[in-house]
Amino acid sequence: MAAFATAVTAVTPVTLHPPSTSWPRLGPTPRRWTPWTPMALGSAAAHVRAAHVRVRRRAAETDAEELPRRAAVGAAATLGAVLATDATLRAQDERYAALGTILAPAPYKEILGFAGTVRTELVPGRIWGFEQCIALASVSTNIRMTAVKLKDGTLWVSAPISPTRQCLRLLEELGPVAHLVVPSSALEHKASLSEFTKFYPKASIWAVPGSTKGLFAVPSSAQVLGSTGPTPPWADELECKVFFVEPPVTDLFAEAAFFHKETRTLLVTDCALKLPQSPPKVLESYGYDGTPGPISLEQWRYKAIAFDFVTGRNQDEKDFAVLSKAPALVNPLLRFIVYRRCPQQAAAWVKSVAAWPFQRIVPAHLQAPFDCNPKQFLEAFGFLFDRKSSWEPEDEQLSFLRSLREIVGGPTF
Ligand SMILES: [Fe+2]
Repeated sequence: MAAFATAVTAVTPVTLHPPSTSWPRLGPTPRRWTPWTPMALGSAAAHVRAAHVRVRRRAAETDAEELPRRAAVGAAATLGAVLATDATLRAQDERYAALGTILAPAPYKEILGFAGTVRTELVPGRIWGFEQCIALASVSTNIRMTAVKLKDGTLWVSAPISPTRQCLRLLEELGPVAHLVVPSSALEHKASLSEFTKFYPKASIWAVPGSTKGLFAVPSSAQVLGSTGPTPPWADELECKVFFVEPPVTDLFAEAAFFHKETRTLLVTDCALKLPQSPPKVLESYGYDGTPGPISLEQWRYKAIAFDFVTGRNQDEKDFAVLSKAPALVNPLLRFIVYRRCPQQAAAWVKSVAAWPFQRIVPAHLQAPFDCNPKQFLEAFGFLFDRKSSWEPEDEQLSFLRSLREIVGGPTF
């Protein structure tokens, strides 16, 4: 401060005082020395400062007005870029649906368009599986749509997957789609029904009870599967038995089992599964954790255990071996979180399904088909009949399922 005051004092007489009349005149007084010059300079500086303040104030006001508009323009530009990319990708790559968007509309659908579809002939000339990958971080598995060719040449299609153009082309190569079926209340098996109905508006829709409510509700025109609904036109070829529970017994849950009489094939969704020794091919479209590529056996064991909701305990090889050994594995999530809450209803349905003389099972995940007869099917559900099941977990493998139970309720285990 002191140095600043000294400098002002030293300069002020020279720059701000009018020149003394006693000073020698050397021609016209330079303008910069007129008494008004400092005032003019000060005034000019004040004007400049005021103008600057006005400009800044106007700028601030302008910013306040502009920000929302600029944000909207930015968002629109981003959206436009996304849609343009989306359109370009969809035009170039038939993995994507001709309608819709590559952006995953739901967590159960494919992530960022990794939706290669693998078609497999499961029973020659009659039943085909269409697999895609569903994923969340490093947990991923295959999801299967099943198509049955009826005797009239039309297709009965259960558990629709994402209707990418590749998927639709592979499907339509087999025949016209006449019936669409929602076989389960599980979101991943009904999420794509509405999109499918846009492509096949003339197809009849059949769905388990409760499907017209909640997330991914099916159209109200859907017929309800089960004893209270009308008899489906395909009933002569495919028999159907429905498991359905709802509050207050448990949360709403439904799964339909179908018996294809001609091929003695049992079609289910989630209740009975079989772990394949090697990863399903379609998982390569997502890779281990989102980068497409092969999956090692070690990674596959981890994924299989995680998908089955069995707690990992650094014994993946051993636990996988036991899980995959059973002829059929009851989905542990359903076993401990759903069936335990309604054992009588579950036992009645399982018993009635086991009355069909099937030779193989086609589920909506993991391996298909796999050999399984009614006796082996019942052995998998031994826990419902006070018997040992073909797979029994060790206590520490249940900790994750126990944490789920604490959220949703139900009997302790
Ligand atoms: Fe499922």
